[in-house]
Amino acid sequence: MNKSRYVVAIDQGTTSCRAIVFDAHGGIVNTAQQEFTQFFPQPGWVEHDADEIWRVQLAVLREAVAAVDVTDITAIGITNQRETTVVWDKMTGKPVHPAIVWQCRRTSGMCEELRQRGWETTIRGKTGLVLDAYFSGTKLKWLLDTYPDIRAKAERGEVLFGTVDSWLIWKLTEGRQHVTDVTNASRTMLLNIHSAQWDDDILTEFNIPKAMLPEVRSSSEIYGHTGLLGGGVNVPIAGAAGDQQAALFGQGCSSEGMAKNTYGTGCFVLKCTGAQPIRSEKGLITTIAWGLNGQLTYALEGSVFNAGAVVQWLRDGLGIIQHASETEAIAKSVPDTGGVYFVPAFTGFGTPYWEPDARGMITGLTRASTKADIVRAALESIAFQSRDVLEVMEEESGIRLKELRVDGGAVRNDFLMQFQADVLGVDVTRPQVIETTALGAASLAGLAVGLWSDMSELEQLKGYDRTFHPEKDLRYREQAVAGWKRAVSYQL
Ligand code: G3P
Repeated sequence: MNKSRYVVAIDQGTTSCRAIVFDAHGGIVNTAQQEFTQFFPQPGWVEHDADEIWRVQLAVLREAVAAVDVTDITAIGITNQRETTVVWDKMTGKPVHPAIVWQCRRTSGMCEELRQRGWETTIRGKTGLVLDAYFSGTKLKWLLDTYPDIRAKAERGEVLFGTVDSWLIWKLTEGRQHVTDVTNASRTMLLNIHSAQWDDDILTEFNIPKAMLPEVRSSSEIYGHTGLLGGGVNVPIAGAAGDQQAALFGQGCSSEGMAKNTYGTGCFVLKCTGAQPIRSEKGLITTIAWGLNGQLTYALEGSVFNAGAVVQWLRDGLGIIQHASETEAIAKSVPDTGGVYFVPAFTGFGTPYWEPDARGMITGLTRASTKADIVRAALESIAFQSRDVLEVMEEESGIRLKELRVDGGAVRNDFLMQFQADVLGVDVTRPQVIETTALGAASLAGLAVGLWSDMSELEQLKGYDRTFHPEKDLRYREQAVAGWKRAVSYQL
């Protein structure tokens, strides 16, 4: 009998929890998705309720797998918003504090102090990261410094730290496994990316007890099993990677020089650099792309903190749209923005400026400006920010980009993709499965349980939907980019 076999990807993003069931050909069988609450307790601060994340994630997981016989599910792969810091009580299984989200700026002062004390070069050398509030390390330090009772418990191993992958694996295995994958660990600022071990010098400086840290594992192996899907089955959790690394893997960018851009809450350009961690001098970060078959692969990354977040803000903050999907038609209803630029630095700038104090701004408004101009400028800002990152990547490598592979929810927006091609002056290629992040996690899990045997088999799972060719000339591009850079400069 030729029985169907499936892999389920859990995609725990910044604003929503998703679960996607893939068949053995990489086709999507079923998807479930739900947004969860964002908390903004102070300007520049962002928090999540890790318990809510768990409840919503489990609900969408169960909803997605209801379409198939759970006995046919071979594995679960997890991919997740990275850096977000969860600390929970080992006995009760309850978070002891709201999760401090990657976008949260509360530790930018702490980073400045560490910089004054000469830690920047050491952090860069050991972790590959810029000394910035983005990463988990200072968030965890802040929590332990602010709540001495939590620190005391952490020292006794009674409270645990994890990024979201770790939290979900712990919950799915009902507290049996406290692990993380090496890609997520590489975002904590506590991992030495050369040895793939927690770094004792940094832990000592940050005063973080090792007892609370998860065990670091590869991105493709069985971490444990879950019985929470029902049907009396125990499904292996067999793959995990931070969402951007999973997207790189899902796009098949496994050889040196291949790059992708994922359009989610933020935008993240990752370029595979093979077995070599390359050090950037221009604001890119060096990160572990995946750990597979005993080997580490590295990537250079440019991180844009606010991309899809700007559309969410138009909907929830400003209230000028009802649904993100409306933005394409609204943007196309005007020939240009009439000189309006939207700089969505709600939580500071990441690559290339690393300016934690920058904030959002709309410039160039006139009495003739309309809602359509603002919506269009918001979408354009996503493409401009991605362009800034790719410009730095090109400058550093000396290699001109030939094509940009894209994925993530916002790539459905044809206006955005065309504008991206226009401001880059290169082809932008959209895959058939735009849920590449989930496909990457499913691939890592499927490899671990033998559903797929190797990368060449995974390559067969992919197809391309459309390539957007640049339609504007150099003069247009230069003018548009100059206007954008002028707007950005007001926040630097
Ligand atoms: O580093 C943050 C990143 O992992 C968040 O991804 O897809 O939620 O924007 P996303």
